[in-house]
Amino acid sequence: SAAGEAIDLPQHDWSFSGPFGTYDRGALQRGFQVYKNVCAGCHALSYVAYRNLEDLGYNEDEVKAIAAEASVTDGPNDDGEMFERPGKPSDRFASPFPNEQAARAANGGAYPPDLSLIVKARPDGANYVRALLIGYTEPPADFNLMAGMNYNAYFPGHQIAMAKPLYGDDVTYEDGTPSTIEQEAADVAAFLAWASEPEMDERKRAGVMTLLFLLVFTGLLYATKRKIWADVH
Ligand code: HEM
Repeated sequence: SAAGEAIDLPQHDWSFSGPFGTYDRGALQRGFQVYKNVCAGCHALSYVAYRNLEDLGYNEDEVKAIAAEASVTDGPNDDGEMFERPGKPSDRFASPFPNEQAARAANGGAYPPDLSLIVKARPDGANYVRALLIGYTEPPADFNLMAGMNYNAYFPGHQIAMAKPLYGDDVTYEDGTPSTIEQEAADVAAFLAWASEPEMDERKRAGVMTLLFLLVFTGLLYATKRKIWADVH
């Protein structure tokens, strides 16, 4: 099949779909576990700060502990040198590579993009990320796969430099959910959807409240109008 064709993405039943949908904190925490243990080895998430993880239901102490596991580059100090220190809640997520050249050097020339906005950057992004992660198959017999590339049913052009990252049982979920590849793919896609739009729940709540207000206000205006004009014949 030719590059540039439209690929039908399998549609997942997301908790956050639709005007009343909200993020499922359990799924987001599981997705964070997948990101941290698998994806973070190659992909930065540099728009997200550790303290943002409180949205997922972690408390302050848990966030401090998660941040402290990371090594963050800080400085310059009084001697003009950069130095490493444990992360703090106010730090953005530490990146796996110091710069793009280093990232490419470690990935056979390909660049693992920052995943902070990937769900917004790709059409139907959450379904795309989920499909991509479960979309690795053998190439069709007539497919000309280049050296070092991997066949993926859902990547545009079907040749992707990223090797299949998930196999199932890549993490042991803290909440005991079985970590099948489908579960991990959906959870990390949900987590990345949250990373792309952490204020979505608040935005939808504000929309619903606005519509309720307009509905009540319209009723009041109508009642007032009836009363004011009641004696005019
Ligand atoms: C590309 C997600 C793990 C290396 C991508 C893309 C996504 C993604 C969404 C972009 C595809 C596009 O441009 O449309 C993930 C997730 C992971 C993961 C969710 C964890 C479950 C990894 C790991 C590595 C890696 C562990 C390195 C060993 C790459 C590279 C690319 C890429 C090199 C660029 C591919 C290309 O442009 O051909 N990944 N990734 N990824 N990823 Fe990952």
